[in-house]
Amino acid sequence: MRQFYILLKSSDVMTQDEIKKQIRALLDERDAILLAHNYQRDEIQELADITGDSLALAIEAQRTDKNVVVYCGVHFMAESAAILSPEKTILLPREDAGCPMADMVTAEGLRQMKAQHPGAVVVTYVNSSAAVKAESDICCTSANAVKVVNSLEAHEVILVPDENLGRYIASHTDKTCHFWKGFCPTHHRLKPEEVLRAKQEHPDALFMAHPECPPAILELADHICSTSGMYEFARSDSSSKYIIGTEMGILYRLRKENPDKEFILPSPRLICPNMKLTSLEDVLKSLQTMSPRITVPEDIRLKAKGSLDRMLAIPRD
Ligand code: 13P
Ligand code: SF4
Repeated sequence: MRQFYILLKSSDVMTQDEIKKQIRALLDERDAILLAHNYQRDEIQELADITGDSLALAIEAQRTDKNVVVYCGVHFMAESAAILSPEKTILLPREDAGCPMADMVTAEGLRQMKAQHPGAVVVTYVNSSAAVKAESDICCTSANAVKVVNSLEAHEVILVPDENLGRYIASHTDKTCHFWKGFCPTHHRLKPEEVLRAKQEHPDALFMAHPECPPAILELADHICSTSGMYEFARSDSSSKYIIGTEMGILYRLRKENPDKEFILPSPRLICPNMKLTSLEDVLKSLQTMSPRITVPEDIRLKAKGSLDRMLAIPRD
């Protein structure tokens, strides 16, 4: 308890630069890598060794030869790293950083849905708990969802937990799709009127949207992709203005990597509170205390790993 007090006191009086320096030193000392999702606070993204979407970070967590992974993201992401790499210490600096969409489905609920559609293959978005992944046949991310579903021989699929992503997949496959009725509260908040207003104000801008957005938003999009897909598109496309239909954290790198281009957020409410929880102080404390550590019970881990491994075996573009 006393040690905890001293840690808090010492970081209280440190400047951001000092905290960053200490984090860097501790990352070396602990043989650790710092991963940050594209929605993290700017200063976390700036400090991270690697930033990326859910798929890229899951691969990096597995590929790294470091013993410790400090995962700045939300719980299911660190859990996926723990499922894939049980020999590594996976730290999630804010254990309370969850994902409301992942919490919308339980293993028991999924078992009931499977009983209603016995011939269907279960394709589960990585935004889900280890227990739900363990009940699934294969995982997908927003970057590979259509590819994963179309790679299957089955003609019938259950898509869990994001209905919006599910409907987007359904519009790109001939398979019969059954949807779990989950959604991301952040992407769900974006209204077609807001996008139409932004388009009116910026008629020369292209609209990029994440497939977690509702169908009425995706209908307005010029390009639909994962968060990392947005970086690739902005880099390779010749337009100079983009309206962005995803969480505001993506703006940091978009603007940094494309200083001559303009990126417009159509709504000030595109903020995921869970993705914004992690501060530099949290990262420092996590490295000092080597906690909170994310682990998964072995029986669930092995089954969930099967679903993730089947996804990772599908070649990337
Ligand atoms: P991606 O980074 O995989 O596009 O996912 C977005 C998201 O909502 C993660 O929580
Ligand atoms: Fe979950 Fe949505 Fe936040 Fe992603 S942006 S972590 S899906 S609530």
